[in-house]
Amino acid sequence: MRAVPRSWLFVPGDSEKKLLKTPETGAHALIIDLEDAVALSAKPTARRMTRDWLEAHKLQITMRKQARWVRINAVDTGMWQEDLAAVMAGAPEGIMLPKAEGPDQIRQVAAEIYELEQRHGIPNGQTRLLPLVSETPRAALTISAYMDASMPRLAGLTWGAEDLSAELGASRKRDSEGQWTDPFRFVRAQTLLVAHARGVWPIDTLYADFRDEDGTRRAAEAARADGFAGMLAVHPSQVPLINEAFTPTEEELGAARAIVDTFAANPGVGALQLNGRMLDQPHLKQAKAVLGID
Ligand code: COA
Ligand code: MG
Repeated sequence: MRAVPRSWLFVPGDSEKKLLKTPETGAHALIIDLEDAVALSAKPTARRMTRDWLEAHKLQITMRKQARWVRINAVDTGMWQEDLAAVMAGAPEGIMLPKAEGPDQIRQVAAEIYELEQRHGIPNGQTRLLPLVSETPRAALTISAYMDASMPRLAGLTWGAEDLSAELGASRKRDSEGQWTDPFRFVRAQTLLVAHARGVWPIDTLYADFRDEDGTRRAAEAARADGFAGMLAVHPSQVPLINEAFTPTEEELGAARAIVDTFAANPGVGALQLNGRMLDQPHLKQAKAVLGID
């Protein structure tokens, strides 16, 4: 399995057609949705279809290196236990928790997952968790609570703009220049910083206008440039744009190699220069990250 899935594609759990399409999307991770993309009346069907899909793609998907994730319903809906009971039989790599309210909820869900891992013979701790940390104003103001609390299953943090926007009664999420407005910049920055502080994956939110290729590409490039490890997607057409944005260009690889080589050629030197540019330890760290070396 890839270390960090870059592209995370949502797929409604009750759509047979879309579930069938998943292997050809090229998404590094698939998030089969039981929450907002599924009508209340369709939840039981979606649970069954999602479990079947997980079972059917266990081997095939692992070989193609596509991670199988499921978004369950929020804790306060009372539906999340039924969701987990249905899908854990298919041993998903992870569970996305929407409208997450903090570490206590993560531990509550983790305890349930623990029981189900036992029941289904899944190694203890294998199932990871990815919360959506920004979907209510209260949650958005307490993202830093994820920094230190004990949550061994936590794989990363991600955020969403749609639900928070509805809670705020905001009529816009981006300004006339396409930049996030203040509440969204605030939660995006917190998600990024807290995930890095904790050492888990920071995953940027989706670009909702999926027919806008340039917008999706710009959002994915900004995500990587700002330090996110991956990004959510709603439509297969966004997946190659995200994968490409997160792949270093030849130019970036060359520049990173030159930095690493310069330090290697000057052992014991902390700061030096390359083509008139000062280089010190953060530059070396950044260059190694681009090359994927420690
Ligand atoms: N996963 C897998 N396949 C998808 C897909 C997805 N998320 N979105 C679209 N497709 C498929 C369609 O079924 C269609 O297949 P076809 O060529 O065999 O007919 C093809 O890709 C092109 O789709 P298109 O016609 O452009 O879009 P649509 O009108 O069928 O669907 C959405 C648009 C937004 C409803 C759809 O992309 C979707 O369901 N996205 C995910 C929604 C979701 O899970 N939201 C929750 C998180 S915010
Ligand atoms: Mg939502």
